[in-house]
Formats: sequence, structure tokens, C-alpha cells
Amino acid sequence: MQKILITGGAGFIGSHVVRLFVRKYPEYHIVNLDKLTYAGNLENLDDIKEYSNYEFIRGDITQLEFLADLFEKYKFSGVIHLAAESHVDRSIINPLEFVYTNIIGTVNLLNAARKIWQNPQDRHIFYHISTDEVYGSLDEEGYFSEDTPYDPQSPYSASKAGSDHFVRAYFNTYGLPVIITNCSNNYGPNQFPEKLIPLAINNIKNNISIPVYGKGENIRDWLYVEDHAKAIDLVFHRGMPGETYNIGGNNEWRNIDLIRLLCELMDKRLNRTAGTSEKLITFVKDRAGHDLRYAIDSSKICTKLGWAPALGFREGLERTVDWYLANERWLTNVLSGDYEKYYVTQYLKR
Ligand code: NAD
Ligand code: TYD
Repeated sequence: MQKILITGGAGFIGSHVVRLFVRKYPEYHIVNLDKLTYAGNLENLDDIKEYSNYEFIRGDITQLEFLADLFEKYKFSGVIHLAAESHVDRSIINPLEFVYTNIIGTVNLLNAARKIWQNPQDRHIFYHISTDEVYGSLDEEGYFSEDTPYDPQSPYSASKAGSDHFVRAYFNTYGLPVIITNCSNNYGPNQFPEKLIPLAINNIKNNISIPVYGKGENIRDWLYVEDHAKAIDLVFHRGMPGETYNIGGNNEWRNIDLIRLLCELMDKRLNRTAGTSEKLITFVKDRAGHDLRYAIDSSKICTKLGWAPALGFREGLERTVDWYLANERWLTNVLSGDYEKYYVTQYLKR
């Protein structure tokens, strides 16, 4: 049985990837390695935790010896690496944490894989999940392609850019079979409510002001998280070692327009008079070094691997809103830190 390591599988995107792989590939043994930081939550995987091809291990990718032992024990044939510190605003407050996990953690994983993948005849893959933010910021025109030079602007994107460079260096220097994808902003169920969309949903629900940075004119390209998970599945199985693929939703929105659409949907769902939630919009001090626009040219993955985003934005947002409204307990738990207690009950008291 092939053993596949997924790092960061208790986080937002990682939990959707773990679920997809565990359900779709009963012939794989899926190991989810996660430190369970504030962003990692095992409740995200309640529905698949009893599957016999799934295993959770709590661990920190900054610990090299621990990783070396883990790789030696499991002899993973593939790695899908999502574990990261992922929030730009937190990176502005504490950049070093991003260096440890995103750069040192990634290099530790590369070293651990390199140590056990000695036979070039065996098919192995080290798949690193990255972000479009490594390319920097666009004006009104143009798109990021795989050839766009790196120009990261925030400590978060700088740390992701650093990790991407190391991953490519291990391909060029040691022949380690690696793949990188750089994806645009994801949204959907299970996203920690400090990112724009779940934060706004939660605030609207509780009649709290919605903080919009600057004038709300910054533009992001939004992709439904399950469409990203499907792209990851495709790239893991059919991508070419040494290659990079950009993934995007072809779905650009100014923050203020997105928030207005969200207010409209929430008013309907909460049976409020049209226009009620919009009154909560509050323009606040802009984020330092706030990138103006991200936009992805995903033609390579579309033409080479036949991927396309499936879900329209309005439908995706409606699903997301419905999920957050139906999962009040999840929200309360992540916001109160109760999921730490959940971990103890679930794994340590068994
Ligand atoms: P997230 O913050 O929701 O989850 C990150 C997970 O990594 C958490 O479960 C956390 O506990 C775990 N983790 C953090 N530090 C760790 C460590 N030292 N050891 C082990 N586990 C650790 O992040 P996300 O939004 O799901 O993003 C996942 C990946 O996708 C990241 O690499 C991110 O850069 C990338 N990405 C995210 C987006 C997005 O819009 N969210 C877009 C493109 C790329
Ligand atoms: P975010 O979800 O943090 O993702 P990223 O910075 O990685 O793109 O933010 C998305 C956009 O929303 C970004 O332009 C910053 C903006 N934003 C706000 O206006 N208010 C907020 O409270 C947050 C969290 C983000």
C-alpha cells in the first residue's frame, strides 16, 4: 500500500485535500501530519477520521529529527506539503514564525524525503503547495504566468517564495522529483475566520462592523476550495516533475464588491431587509504593503492537465455562507480555542 504524507491536513485547504484523497483512494494510506496551530482543527475531518486508510499524527515540520524518523518508519512514496503559516496580517506582526515553518519546515521535509528516496527508478513526488502572492502585485492589467519573476512584498509571500526556491533547488541540485503549484485566494467551508470571507460572514451574522482595508479597491482572484483540491489531485497524479502550474479561478473581485455581494446574500439568508448588512461596512486603516491586485493565468494546467474550476462564484459563496450558518459550533470552538480540548478528548483519552 502506497503511503502518502499530507502536511497541514487539519487546516483549511489541507482538510479538503485529505478528505478527497481518503475517500477517493482506498488503496492509499494517507498520513496527515499537523502541528495543530490555532489554524489546525481536527473537527474539520470528523467525517473521515474512522476510515481505515487514514491516520493523523501530531507533529511539527520544524523538527528535523522527528521528520527523519517519520520518513524512515513510513517510507512515504509521495508528499503533499500544505503546512504553513498562511495569514499575511500575522506575518506582519511576527515574520520569524513564517521563516521557521514556511522555509525551515519545507527544507526539513525536502531533506527527509531526499534521505529515503535514493532509488531514481521508484516513482516519488514531493508536491509543494504555494501561492500566487510570490509574484508580487499587479496593476489593473496583466496576469501572473509560471514565468512571471518572483517579487514577494509581504513577510508571508517572502517566506513562501523562499520555500519555492528551495524546492526548485532540490530538483536542480539533487534531482529530487518536485512539483509546485501557485494558487490564488481560496474560499469555502472550514476557513479560519480571520481571513476576509469567513470574517465578514461571522461579523455580519453577529451585527459587528466589517473591516475593509483602505478603500476596498484591492483585487483578488477567488477559487472555491474543492476546485483547488481537485487540481491538487490532478497535479499529484499527472503533473510533470520539475514543473510549476498556476491555479486560479478566473474570478477577480474588488474587495468592496465582494463584501457587498456577501451582504446581499446574508440579508436573504438571515431574512433581513435588503441593505441592512451593508451598513456594517467600515473602512479601516490599510494593511501595510497591501498588494493591489492578484490575477492568475491558469492556461497551463487547463491545457496540459485538463483542469477547470467547476463552481460559479455566486453558488460557491452561497454554499460557504450556508456552511458557516449551519456550523455555529465549529465557529464558536475555533474562536474559543476549544478545539484543543477536542484534540485531547479525541486522541489522548482514548
Ligand atoms: P491554514 O492556515 O488554514 O492551515 C495551515 C495548517 O498547517 C494548519 O492546520 C496548521 O496547524 C498547520 N501547521 C502550521 N505550522 C505547522 C508546523 N510547523 N508543522 C506542522 N503543521 C503546521 O492554511 P491554508 O489556507 O489551508 O493554506 C494551506 C497551504 O496553501 C499553505 O501552504 C498556503 O500557503 C497555501 N495557499 C493558501 C491559499 C489560501 O487562499 N488560503 C492560497 C494559495 C496557497
Ligand atoms: P485575506 O483573506 O487576508 O487574503 P490575502 O491577503 O492573502 O489575499 O485578505 C483578502 C483581501 O481582503 C486582502 O486584499 C485584504 C483584505 N481584507 C480586508 O479588507 N479586511 C480584512 O479584515 C481582511 C482580513 C482582509
